[in-house]
Amino acid sequence: MICLGNICRSPLAEGVLRSKLPSHFIVDSAGTANYHVGDSPDYRSVSVAKNHGIDISFLRGRQFTVADFDSFDVLYAMDSSNYQNIISLARNDEDLQKVSLLMNEEFPNENREVHDPYYGNEKDFEAVYQQIDSVCTLIAKKYQS
Ligand code: 4NP
Repeated sequence: MICLGNICRSPLAEGVLRSKLPSHFIVDSAGTANYHVGDSPDYRSVSVAKNHGIDISFLRGRQFTVADFDSFDVLYAMDSSNYQNIISLARNDEDLQKVSLLMNEEFPNENREVHDPYYGNEKDFEAVYQQIDSVCTLIAKKYQS
């Protein structure tokens, strides 16, 4: 799960997807930027996750690296800017094939985005949670069927 800062959207997506999958699935998150490396998730993401029974408080920000193409089978970008940043690092077609917009799992080819809630309020974080929860339910089904 990849966003810009790895403090708002992607840690939430990591926690939500992990909660829906058996523990042998490795779910992680990263940011394309390095501003928040080592930081806890934004308190509003921690809070909205907690309201839904998920603890993400222990996660720490890290930056996406080319090695992530080797470590993971699937890379989900939250928005088109994240998507462009990730694919600009792809070394070959195999890397490229791993990357998609998260919301395309629910709304194929629509290129919907999970918008950055950083400058928003708690309602925006709840809306992001609902968006992520819905698509992660489908992803969890897809990889267990
Ligand atoms: P995220 O949100 O990409 O969902 O983690 C952001 C968090 C911080 C910043 C931008 C987006 N920032 O500019 O510091």
